[in-house]
Amino acid sequence: MIVRKAVIPAAGLGTRFLPATKAQPKAMIPIVDVPAIQLVVEEAARVGLHDVLVVAGRGQVAIEDHFDRSPELEGFLEAKGKTEQLEAIRAISRLAQVHVVRQQEPLGLGHAVSLARAHVGDEPFAVLLADDLIHPSAPLLAEMLRVHGKYGRSVIAGMEVPKPDIASYGCIEPERVEDHLDRVVSVIEKPDPERAPSNVAVIGRYVFTPEIFDVLDRITPGSGGELQLTDAINLLAQEQAVYAYRFDEGRFDVGNPLDYLKATVELAVEREDVGPAFRDWLWDFAQRRKLV
Ligand code: UTP
Repeated sequence: MIVRKAVIPAAGLGTRFLPATKAQPKAMIPIVDVPAIQLVVEEAARVGLHDVLVVAGRGQVAIEDHFDRSPELEGFLEAKGKTEQLEAIRAISRLAQVHVVRQQEPLGLGHAVSLARAHVGDEPFAVLLADDLIHPSAPLLAEMLRVHGKYGRSVIAGMEVPKPDIASYGCIEPERVEDHLDRVVSVIEKPDPERAPSNVAVIGRYVFTPEIFDVLDRITPGSGGELQLTDAINLLAQEQAVYAYRFDEGRFDVGNPLDYLKATVELAVEREDVGPAFRDWLWDFAQRRKLV
């Protein structure tokens, strides 16, 4: 069955990003000048997922507004003859049909995904986390959809990380199927690196069969007292094959300030508009501070 819908859980408290996230959603924090969630909706739209459900927290109306039309702003830009900006603003509301469901309490990523059931129904669907940005040229989601099309099963994204870092991720116990593809034997949330079954981390892109909703109903609070998506994937993997698509580049972690800074610099130097001047400044800055 073809995948048509994408779910973007964005209702977490974003505590690693306080105070910026006190009164605004973490997913609205921009990479240069584009909110992270817009980059994620663009990624979904590029592979034909034009029906997007955002799981938002209380008070996160900025997300819905961002993907809505903005008649006042559009009228202003039109009157000023700023046609390029006008087109860019209109294009955001044409990217996808964005629906919103509220997660009333941040009970965990697993709980957030379970709230998509009424919207998704009995179809396979994709889940994209705005904490993990994927470079626009990386074909990760397209490849995951291809694997789903071939095997008809759930596919998660996996990436090797330095062993000590696995303690911050869901960790995959893999069984090799083919190049870039493993079957998930088990998956465990934030393991002790000494006991972790591998250094393959779960990255925030998933294609799920609808059976994930049944297992989400059966899990109990896990790591951090939250309903963990990882625990549901682990249960699903015991009941039907779950695949992990292995990739190794084009992922930017923007969930915490240090990694966010690195991602912003990397993506900024690639920009056609500000990139060249920023690169020159960066080089000059590094020399002045004797960093190189
Ligand atoms: P994170 O754990 O990275 O996000 O969840 P967080 O909880 O907002 O971050 P910190 O640790 O407090 O800084 C991964 C994704 O799951 C969503 C988050 O919004 C993020 O996109 N999430 C998490 C929910 O939608 N609901 C939850 O209850 C928890």
